[in-house]
Amino acid sequence: MATTERLPTVRAELISFSVNGRSVDVAAPGTRRLSRVLRDDLGLTGTKVGCDAGDCGACTVLLNGEPVCACLVATGQASGCEITTVEGLAGRSPLHGRLQQSFLSHGAAQCGACTPGMLVAATVLLEYNSSPSESEVMDAIGGVLCRCTGYRKIITAIMEAGANPVLEASPAAGAAVGARLVRLDGKKKVEGSEIFGADETPAETLGVRVIRCPHHRARFQFGDLDQFAATHPGVMLILTAKDVPGIDCYGVIPRFADQPVFAHHEARFRGEAVAALAGEPDALEGFDLAKFPIRWEELPPLKTIHEALAADAPRMHADREENVLVRGRVVCGDVDKALAEADVVAAGEYETGFVEHACIEPEAGFARRIGDCIEIQACTQAPYMDRHDIAKILGIPPEKVRIIPTAVGGGFGTKLDLSVQPFVALAAWKLGRPARMVYSRTESIVSTTKRHPAHMRLRAGATRDGKLTALDFSADFNTGAYSSWGPTVAGRVPVHASGPYRVPNYRAMTRAVHTNIVPAGAFRGFGVPQAAIAQEQLYDELADRLAIDRLEFRILNALQNDSPTVTGQVLGEGVGIRACFEALRPRWQAARAEAAAFNAGAVGPLRHGVGVAGMWYGCGNTSLPNPSTVRIGLKRDGRIALHQGAVDIGQGSNTIVPQICADALGAPVAQFDLVSGDTALSPDCGKTSASRQTFVTGKAAHMAGSKLRSEILKLAGACDCAAVEFGNGSVAVDDDAKQKVLALAEMPLDPHGYVITCEATFDPPTSPLDEDGQGSPYAVFGFGAHLAEIEVDLDLGTVRVLKVTAAHDVGHAINPTLIEGQIEGGVAQGLGMALMEEFFPGKGENLHDYLIPTAGDVPPVESILIEDPSSIGPFGAKGIGEQAVIPTAPAILNAIHDAVGVRIHKVPATPDRVRAAILEKASGGMRG
Ligand code: FES
Ligand code: FES
Repeated sequence: MATTERLPTVRAELISFSVNGRSVDVAAPGTRRLSRVLRDDLGLTGTKVGCDAGDCGACTVLLNGEPVCACLVATGQASGCEITTVEGLAGRSPLHGRLQQSFLSHGAAQCGACTPGMLVAATVLLEYNSSPSESEVMDAIGGVLCRCTGYRKIITAIMEAGANPVLEASPAAGAAVGARLVRLDGKKKVEGSEIFGADETPAETLGVRVIRCPHHRARFQFGDLDQFAATHPGVMLILTAKDVPGIDCYGVIPRFADQPVFAHHEARFRGEAVAALAGEPDALEGFDLAKFPIRWEELPPLKTIHEALAADAPRMHADREENVLVRGRVVCGDVDKALAEADVVAAGEYETGFVEHACIEPEAGFARRIGDCIEIQACTQAPYMDRHDIAKILGIPPEKVRIIPTAVGGGFGTKLDLSVQPFVALAAWKLGRPARMVYSRTESIVSTTKRHPAHMRLRAGATRDGKLTALDFSADFNTGAYSSWGPTVAGRVPVHASGPYRVPNYRAMTRAVHTNIVPAGAFRGFGVPQAAIAQEQLYDELADRLAIDRLEFRILNALQNDSPTVTGQVLGEGVGIRACFEALRPRWQAARAEAAAFNAGAVGPLRHGVGVAGMWYGCGNTSLPNPSTVRIGLKRDGRIALHQGAVDIGQGSNTIVPQICADALGAPVAQFDLVSGDTALSPDCGKTSASRQTFVTGKAAHMAGSKLRSEILKLAGACDCAAVEFGNGSVAVDDDAKQKVLALAEMPLDPHGYVITCEATFDPPTSPLDEDGQGSPYAVFGFGAHLAEIEVDLDLGTVRVLKVTAAHDVGHAINPTLIEGQIEGGVAQGLGMALMEEFFPGKGENLHDYLIPTAGDVPPVESILIEDPSSIGPFGAKGIGEQAVIPTAPAILNAIHDAVGVRIHKVPATPDRVRAAILEKASGGMRG
């Protein structure tokens, strides 16, 4: 993982080809990747690079009409050829304009990182076949990965492109909430003009390359760095720990911050940064980092929870006894007594592995110094948190740091933590020139956070008539070398491990344990998906022992408005879990009958099964302040500036927050100008995580919109019920008595540059948990239940998911299309977690070996939206992002048991594990 001999210089040659109908001559080495020439030399950044290895398909372009991965084509091979990129699709024929429209109207682009590749791949199919079948579409896009959408809306958009899709008109004033509004940032995504982290390079920008530890644990000593710099003229700066001017320690939770920008003497995980080189990009690229002067002394690593907890294990952080970062605990009632008295008790032990986020966009961005300030433009989920940590690292006030978030090509939690930011900031700060960095896929995988592996043990008890009486749950999470979001996972899981059920006697204990592995952090659900895998399988066991239908067992125990949760919180409203389960009942009964009929007639190795699982998820931080502040300004031209700092990572906050604000104000969405999460322009809307942006930022937007309406009415001397109409340069206010027109052009501007500015802050009402974890950790919960229908091959151990039906209580569906997109994407990630995704540190650090679901893996998903509103959320809305992923994996695992009678205790349920369980059962040794 390190180089410093210069590789032989490759000479540039003049290569001519045509791009999007235009002839170009490029001076480049013939071996240079076509993707790079298109992006760097021709500025066609619509072509994305997700892997540089032919695995993701993001770079798909047409070469003489055939789709190719541009990262695998040497530019010399393109000589004399005709290339079409996403930027050229619309000009190719009306068909392509229709395809782009279809992507917009079906919500087929979320983050948009895969969208150019998808559109190009679909183009070829549609040129030959204007009404393709589902399987033809799946074949056509089979080589392009999407991590957000679950593919279903993409497939539909392609199949229906020929139907001349018409985009619905933007909703009128007061009609935005509930509308299937096309995402406001969608056009740029389908045209390839959206700017992601790697898509801009200011003039005179330097490159940065990081030297990373190749071992799980190693001491190191640098050689002669001065001599190295002197003999490598392209290298302008070598950065190590001693070059950090401020505090060399950062972390997403300040109280637990423990990660250095560069390791000091000992690296604690494979992939940890120890030094960085900054210099002219071409010169840096030519160095073999393995030759950097550093001597490694490999040390025995602690790789597993078991090793880290051993009595003789070395302590990884001096202040953390037993290598335990933090413990979580929620206790109510008397769980031992209740289990002893239960009519039926089931017990189980479950394990899950590391899961890689696999965002299609790797981490990227640049920094530039402007006087005594630093600006960082990068992909991030948390601009204000980045600002805080960069200020600390550089030793300057936060006001001197400006974070400009780009579009984010998938985040799912991993882009909450710093990645390229400290390296480019340090280089730009010291050299006074912009510095840029784009992680390679391998660098992204080895150095960024993962989903926590969990080892969980639990026992549950119930009465003879099916009432849950007790759950005893304990879990250890492998949190890796540094804290990241380990405390959040260890704290959130005990609150949620009961599932959405009334459990009167409860004990949940967790530990986040340090190991010499890349830090585990936030990944959609903060540990709750792992807990659901255990608890939902165990509840099936209980139901089976009681001979009660598994869905009816859940309905019988589902939380209700007046039920106390395991933390003693009585929500009093909006507990929609029972409605979710009941919505699944018709399909559950039909699917069970169909599976039974199939199995009864089966002569070959295939068996069908049906599984169900429930979930709940508290929106926002656990018992911690969690505010969002939104500012809106009425401009002299009658338009409204909406400063909302919620970063849209594909989930749709750029659309949903304006929808909410528009209806609160009484203006059409089309009247709004969105101002992004740039810390110099917008107030802090907190991080995009924990399903909080619709709920928390949406509520702040609702409050700000209502305030502006009140201010306008006050100016006009009108009553609350007056109608307000926004015109060109004026606002007309009508009430029964009179009409008044505010001539905005003549009105003075306030310090923000608006005629009227309103700001509102919302912080969800929660209370701290006591030492038994009792209290009100969240103001609002989302609820949901999934039903999975699957097919198992007894001979091969393979599992195919045939259909998922997903019912979610979202309070109020602000934009049903975007919510369905979250559900379908969540199902795809849950399917990956259940059946195929497992990261082994040190192995398969690419998208060839680390498998995520492709278009062919994800089944049809039927979404059922339940609206049991919260009086706290905006228009009653709750979050959906994390919720959508939680029940899929346990529903699939329960379906496997239903199909073939084996319980999978170690996830993912890969064919070898399923087959081994089937063989074990056949030999009479089955457990569980
Ligand atoms: S970037 Fe070319 S296939 Fe991934
Ligand atoms: S929309 Fe496909 S990767 Fe994000």
